[in-house]
Amino acid sequence: MRANISDISKFESKEVEVAGWLYNKRSSGKLHFLLIRDGTGIIQVIVDQASVGEDVFALCDRLTQESSVVVTGAVGKEARAPGGYEIRLSSIEVLQLANDYPLTPKEHGVSFLMDRRHLWLRSSRQHAILLVRSTIEKACRDYLDSRGFVLVDAPILTPAACEGTSTLFETDYFGTKAYLSQSGQLYNEAAAMSFGKVYCFGPTFRAEKSKTRRHLLEFWMVEPEAAFANVEDITVLAEGLVAFIVERVLEERRPQLEKLGRRLEALEKIVPPFPRLSYGQAIETLKSKGSGINWGDDFGAVEETELSNAFEKPVFVWGYPAQCKAFYMKAHAEDPKITLSVDLLAPEGYGEIVGGGQREDNLEVLERKIAEIGVPREAFEWYLDLRRYGSVEHSGFGLGIERTVAWICGIEHVRETIPFPRMLNRFTP
Ligand code: 4AD
Ligand code: MG
Repeated sequence: MRANISDISKFESKEVEVAGWLYNKRSSGKLHFLLIRDGTGIIQVIVDQASVGEDVFALCDRLTQESSVVVTGAVGKEARAPGGYEIRLSSIEVLQLANDYPLTPKEHGVSFLMDRRHLWLRSSRQHAILLVRSTIEKACRDYLDSRGFVLVDAPILTPAACEGTSTLFETDYFGTKAYLSQSGQLYNEAAAMSFGKVYCFGPTFRAEKSKTRRHLLEFWMVEPEAAFANVEDITVLAEGLVAFIVERVLEERRPQLEKLGRRLEALEKIVPPFPRLSYGQAIETLKSKGSGINWGDDFGAVEETELSNAFEKPVFVWGYPAQCKAFYMKAHAEDPKITLSVDLLAPEGYGEIVGGGQREDNLEVLERKIAEIGVPREAFEWYLDLRRYGSVEHSGFGLGIERTVAWICGIEHVRETIPFPRMLNRFTP
C-alpha cells in the first residue's frame, strides 16, 4: 500500500510503498542506509544485501542524491532512525537517476542558492520555513473567517496608486497606464460597504529601490477592513490575529521551528495585551537614546529596532503625523496634526508587520487630500463615491506575510520566506 512518510507509524510491521527522492545515503559493509524524502517527511530505508540480493544492492549503490524512487518494504520501529521508524527494503523502482544534483549537503553561498531556488526549495530548512508560511496563511484565514469577515478578492491591475506614487510598478493596459496593486485596501473599503467585514489576501507589489532584509518587490498581504469600526477596534483585531497566528504555529509547527533553531520561549510570550506607544512617545524614547530623529520623521529600520527592543511582545505605535502616512488616513479630531493610524512592530528587530488605521470618511476632506497629493482625480472618483453614498466610520489594516514569517521563524532575511522572491537584483527563477 502507498503511504506518506508522515503516516508511517500507522503501518508498523506492515509492508508499504513510499514514493520519493533520495535525500542522502551512507553505506556500511553489506548495508546501505537510504534517506528518502516524500514531502511529508524523511525516512531511513535499510538495504541489506543478504535479503535484497546483489543486483538490487548494486542498484542502490548507484543511487544519487535527488534520484526519484519507489521503495517497498516492511515498517519497523527504530529509535535511532530519524522519525523513529525505518523501512527494510524488499524492492525498489528507480524512476530516474539524477545526475550531478548541484546542491550538495556542503555549504553554498546565498547567490548560488538563490539562482537555484527551484531546487533549494527541497532542502530541509526551506521546507520548514514554507510549512510555517503555509500554516500562517491558513491561520489568517481561519481567524478572519471565524469572526464573520468575508473574503473579497481585490484586483491586481489597478488604475490608481494606494500607497504613494514612488513605488508603483507601471504596465500598459492596451494604451492606458495601469499599475500593479500596492494594496487591496481601496477595493476593500468598497467591499466593506457591501458586506460589513471583509478581507483580501493576495500578492502586492512595490517597486522598492532599497535593498534591505525586510523589503521585497512582490509580497503577500492579508488586509481586513470593517465598516462601523474605529482605529481602536482594528488595533484589537490586529492584536488578536497576531497572537492567534503565533499560537497556531506553536501548536502545529514545533518540529519546523526547532529545525530552524527558533527560540520557542520568545514566541510563547506573544499573548495579548501588546504594549502601545503614541508616535510622540516613540519620538521621545528615541531621542532619549541619542537618536537625531525629529517630530514628523518616519521611522526606518534602525528606529523600529530600537523601539521594539524595549519589549518582548510586538508593540503598537499609533498616531503618526499625516506626512508619514497615505492620503486616506483620517486626522485625529482633537489633534489634526496626527492621524488615526497604527503600526505594529514585531519584537527582536523584525520591524513593522502591520500597518493600518481609520479611513477618512468625509467627502470634502478626502477630495482635498487627493488634490494635495497631485494625482489625477478621475482615477479616484469611484473611491469618492463611497463617501457620497452612505459614508460611515471604517478602518482596516494590512499584515505582511513575509515579515511575519521571518519573525516567527527567526530568520535573518525575508528572501527565504516566499517561494520565489522578487528583489531589486533578482527575478529569476
Ligand atoms: O504599511 P503598509 O504600506 O500598509 C498598506 O499597504 C495599507 N494599505 C494596508 C491596509 O490598511 N489595508 O503595508 C502593510 C504591511 C507592512 O506592515 C509590512 O508588513 C508589509 O505590508 N510590507 C512589506 N513586506 C515586504 N516587502 C515590502 N516591500 C513591504 N511593504 C510593506
Ligand atoms: Mg506601513
